[in-house]
Amino acid sequence: MQTVHTIADLREALSPFKCPAFVPTMGNLHDGHIALVRQAKPLGDVTVSSIFVNRLQFAPHEDFDSYPRTLAADAERLQAAGCDVLFAPREQELYPQPQTYRVHPASDLSDILEGHFRPGFFIGVSTVVLTLFSCVYAGMPNGVAAFGKKDYQQVMVVRRMVQQFALPIRILAGETQRAPDGLALSSRNGYLSASERKEAVQLALALHELGTLAGTAGPAELPALEARAMQALARRGWKPDYLTVRRRNDLLPPQAGLPAEPLVVLGAAKLGNTRLIDNLEI
Ligand code: PAF
Repeated sequence: MQTVHTIADLREALSPFKCPAFVPTMGNLHDGHIALVRQAKPLGDVTVSSIFVNRLQFAPHEDFDSYPRTLAADAERLQAAGCDVLFAPREQELYPQPQTYRVHPASDLSDILEGHFRPGFFIGVSTVVLTLFSCVYAGMPNGVAAFGKKDYQQVMVVRRMVQQFALPIRILAGETQRAPDGLALSSRNGYLSASERKEAVQLALALHELGTLAGTAGPAELPALEARAMQALARRGWKPDYLTVRRRNDLLPPQAGLPAEPLVVLGAAKLGNTRLIDNLEI
């Protein structure tokens, strides 16, 4: 595996190829990232991953400074997974000047749920993803990019961006990888204390229970079920932002009187100082 730090070196490394399979990350890699690399690899003629902690998607009070930076260990894991090129730019390389041009995804998708609780988050994500896409795919006839479904809304925002800007990139959504107890793998799990780590699976269990109840409930009953699920987590010491049942297609609440549609249960809650998110398609 070749590690490059500049856009010029990345383009040079990719120049013999026609279809990069790309897995963008912020590093501190876990089995979820590695599963994405393995899934994406057969779909391209070169496998690329990036590690870049993107300041633009963190609010000032969030964990940009403390986000774990583990480049050497990450590079070993990527190499073992069959990644060919690792792009690890410094901040100066991706943002040589203050990034005054930004991608503003439509608010119907990006100001709800995560976007409501983390204002500007999807602007930061879309801006860096478009920048990374332009570093990796410029001049390529096509490509594949893989994102994990744990960040369900992020996958939808990126998919729409790719459609709306007619980017020749296929988006692969990888299934959420889970620890044996069911906790969704996340770099932020590393912030949990031992007792919080034991408790953390309760978010997945709450989503599962809400999904089961939603399966037999009508749309009008959902707000009460959601409120009860949030209260139950709060009684265990969590601070839930949302636990909610949404249409998979647009992440809006299901409507009474319309034909049933595939649904997803999404949740975000803080345990101690760590904010966890998860979801379950039902
Ligand atoms: O999901 C992530 O790790 C980040 O949001 C991404 C897509 C790498 C953009 O910084």
